[in-house]
Amino acid sequence: MHPGRPVILDRYPILREALPRFSILREPSPVGRLERLEREAGSKLPLWIKRDDLLGTDYGGNKPRKLEFLLGELLAKERRVVVTVGGLGSNHCLATTIYGRQAGLQVHACLVDQPLTPEVEATLARMADEGATLHFARSPKQVPVRIAAILGRESWGWPLRRPGLILPGGSVPLGTVGIVNAALELAEQVADGEVPRPAAIFTALGSGGTHAGLAAGMQILGWDVPVVGVLVSDHLRLDQERVGGLARRTAALLRRADPSFPDGEPSPDRLIVREGYLGRGYGHPTEAADRTVRLVRDVEGIPMDRTYTGKAMAAMLDAAREGRMEGPLLFWNTYNSHPTPLPDPRWRDGLPTALRRHLEMKA
Ligand SMILES: Cc1ncc(COP(=O)(O)O)c(C=O)c1O
Repeated sequence: MHPGRPVILDRYPILREALPRFSILREPSPVGRLERLEREAGSKLPLWIKRDDLLGTDYGGNKPRKLEFLLGELLAKERRVVVTVGGLGSNHCLATTIYGRQAGLQVHACLVDQPLTPEVEATLARMADEGATLHFARSPKQVPVRIAAILGRESWGWPLRRPGLILPGGSVPLGTVGIVNAALELAEQVADGEVPRPAAIFTALGSGGTHAGLAAGMQILGWDVPVVGVLVSDHLRLDQERVGGLARRTAALLRRADPSFPDGEPSPDRLIVREGYLGRGYGHPTEAADRTVRLVRDVEGIPMDRTYTGKAMAAMLDAAREGRMEGPLLFWNTYNSHPTPLPDPRWRDGLPTALRRHLEMKA
């Protein structure tokens, strides 16, 4: 593997021309066995983890993988401004702020209300600190109007400029290419004997890119490995058909860029959407997720969050205890675990008034 270059571009060099990249990742994310967790959780199956939480230099998780290609395209098109969208505690918006600013872009984030937990507030504070211009939408319905207003305002002036738009979670085919690359990276680690080939992969299903990219990746590798996406959001309508559609469009993009690229349309029985772990809705804590976050932190020292990875890991542990699936199971850890610097105590001062009032009311 060429250090700092995604496996997918090493294996399919024609893609380098078609898919410009803003380089964020240096190394493959580590893999490891979760032996203590197996014991403490009463697992009947071997459990492994892919530590995307350690990716990047400043902020890890699944977002840097998508942003390498999404920001690469914006830079190739000479965009100076990027607009994106997510919840008040959106890891995607924070990652876009950090790496977008490093790419020299001005970042606007349109944020939708969600339950305010200390994690959400820390993410929001860091977004403000890292220099994003923040906008507030009280409900998902307000988002299109807000986005149109930001795009209109940012296009104004001479010479004309066209801001770039990154859709929620970066879950469009180009961003999902970064996750297909992640699957190829895993295959190299399996070939090197660092980790056994999993019998199934579990990951959080928020906006769909990670689930779709891994499922497409398994198909491209010719591996008969189901990918279980644990539904953690009710903001977007996501089901097997929609996630499968994104996987199909991603594979088509890759084959258009390089016709020698293998067919990546996953078969529906290898793309499983698991429900039952969302609780009252996106961002609402559940007892199972809280318990799981504490357990994984205490026995493995790996931090997880309550919105995504805690719920997804709770689902994997249930499957591991039941033992009806085959093992080993691999958890794709999509949360960031680089430490978050303490925000400037005056971080709220620069927020738009509506958002500041909203936070004061909820305090
Ligand atoms: C920590 C974390 N895990 C998982 C996800 C879900 O990934 P995706 O949006 O690709 O479904 C997200 C973002 O949405 C996230 O922030």
